[in-house]
Amino acid sequence: MFGDEILKVLITEEEIEKRCAELGEQLTKDYASSGNKLLVVALLRGSVPFLAELIKYIKLPLEMDFMDVSSYAGTESVGDVKIVKDLDTSIKGLDILLVEDIVDTGRTLHVVKRMLYGKGAERVRIVTLLDKPERREVEINADYIGFTVPNEFVVGYGLDYNQKYRNLPFIGVLKPEVYE
Ligand code: IMP
Repeated sequence: MFGDEILKVLITEEEIEKRCAELGEQLTKDYASSGNKLLVVALLRGSVPFLAELIKYIKLPLEMDFMDVSSYAGTESVGDVKIVKDLDTSIKGLDILLVEDIVDTGRTLHVVKRMLYGKGAERVRIVTLLDKPERREVEINADYIGFTVPNEFVVGYGLDYNQKYRNLPFIGVLKPEVYE
């Protein structure tokens, strides 16, 4: 599937699964000590495959909610973050684990984190599958990072290019001709 459109595989499915297990174990330890209810907030749509794998390894009671924010068209960030779907749950006093697919410029998480605190969250921690620190424009750090990736546009495991490639089971880079 899509074999002739992929230039290279950066992170394999096995590596992602192993890392999710490690992250889940760490999160279980860290959140076990907090007396508050844990709400996992996933940003649609890219974080869904990562979320599904990760929560298998969080051995604590938790609830889930979803937000959809957008700022992207094609491969370049276009500034402002728009809330497309807000949370359904009240988050006052909750411990939130915000799940993201990739931190790129950092604008999305910067805005979303501020918003969650504005709605009364007790604490917001961020877990991201990928971190692309070379592209950062606003200061934001994820508390938990799956993998750090170089400054290349990546697809797969939830990440898309024009809504395609989200179902690739690995993280890869597309051939340049795909963008032409
Ligand atoms: P930020 O606000 O610039 O940090 O962008 C975060 C969002 O941009 C992510 O949730 C992705 O949807 C998208 N994004 C950033 N870099 C990539 C990439 O390399 N591949 C696919 N999507 C990306």
